Amino acid sequence: MAATEERARARDAARAQAAARRATDGAAAPDRANAIELRSVTRTYDVSKAGLRDTTLEIRRGEFVFLVGQTGSGKSTLMRLLVRELEPESGQILVGGRDLAALTRKQVALYRRNLGVVFQDFKLLPNRTVYDNVAYVLQVTGSSRREIRAKVPDILRLTGLATKLHHYPDQLSGGEQQRVSIARAFVNHPPLLLADEPTGNLDPETSVGIMQLLYRINRTGTTVLVATHDHAMVDRMRRRVIELDAGRLVRDELAGRYAPSDMSTAEFGALMSEPAPQPRRGGGEDPLAEAGREPGLGAEFDEAFRD
Ligand SMILES: Nc1ncnc2c1ncn2[C@@H]1O[C@H](COP(=O)(O)OP(=O)(O)O)[C@@H](O)[C@H]1O
Ligand SMILES: [Mg+2]
Repeated sequence: MAATEERARARDAARAQAAARRATDGAAAPDRANAIELRSVTRTYDVSKAGLRDTTLEIRRGEFVFLVGQTGSGKSTLMRLLVRELEPESGQILVGGRDLAALTRKQVALYRRNLGVVFQDFKLLPNRTVYDNVAYVLQVTGSSRREIRAKVPDILRLTGLATKLHHYPDQLSGGEQQRVSIARAFVNHPPLLLADEPTGNLDPETSVGIMQLLYRINRTGTTVLVATHDHAMVDRMRRRVIELDAGRLVRDELAGRYAPSDMSTAEFGALMSEPAPQPRRGGGEDPLAEAGREPGLGAEFDEAFRD
């Protein structure tokens, strides 16, 4: 009992000290309720001088966020920074409260295991079946055979591929191939999923199904960031929208006051199929204050991105 109290006192003292240090440094403390935090991040390319410029944003744990902007506006640059394929020239990127610049090479590999990443061109292994494309990820991250046998059929059922286990990628439609790549990205239930133009190669109807799937994943607690240049679709969905233009953040709005849990996947899908409502382009609102809800899955996030 006494020992517990002593530990609690020591912990409180350490916290107070840390708070005092932050106050004197002037540096903002990482807000651990944020899944993603960018602070004045700039990353340009030598040749084109384009990229991402002085971008500051926060994405809370559990959010579903669209990243929109024309081709060349910097969406993929932002995604690549988050995967730590690129590093910023200036500014700071924190994921789960951790500064990505501080990661060692080994830590980068571990960090990436906690990310699900989905691309426009699916990036499936052409000579492996659907089953093996997903099983492969588990093999390289050290899962046992038993785990693989349990997890792969499960995730393929959840993503609507139960009857396609033994097909090869070229025997599938574009939408099915994207489902496989989403199954692969989500099989380890990462706390953060990044999708870069996941519907860029798909027709509108198939795209709705893919967005619904990403939304379902979000409803399990995973934070989801989806880059797309399909404004029309995004404007219907009443989710937070961040817009880039020539590498700069030009819009950040939470369209409506909808928390992830108050819309079913079917309602979400129906919404996307409806004619677009008038986009609400209000300025000056604080999307985070608007969100006004508890960040979900704190413990899982901490576990995944801990030191
Ligand atoms: N490897 C690169 N070298 C030089 N310029 C690049 C490179 N990658 C992207 N860019 C430029 O940076 C800008 C942003 O690109 P990108 O982030 O891919 O935009 P988006 O994904 O929104 O289409 C574009 O002008 C693009 O031409
Ligand atoms: Mg891109």
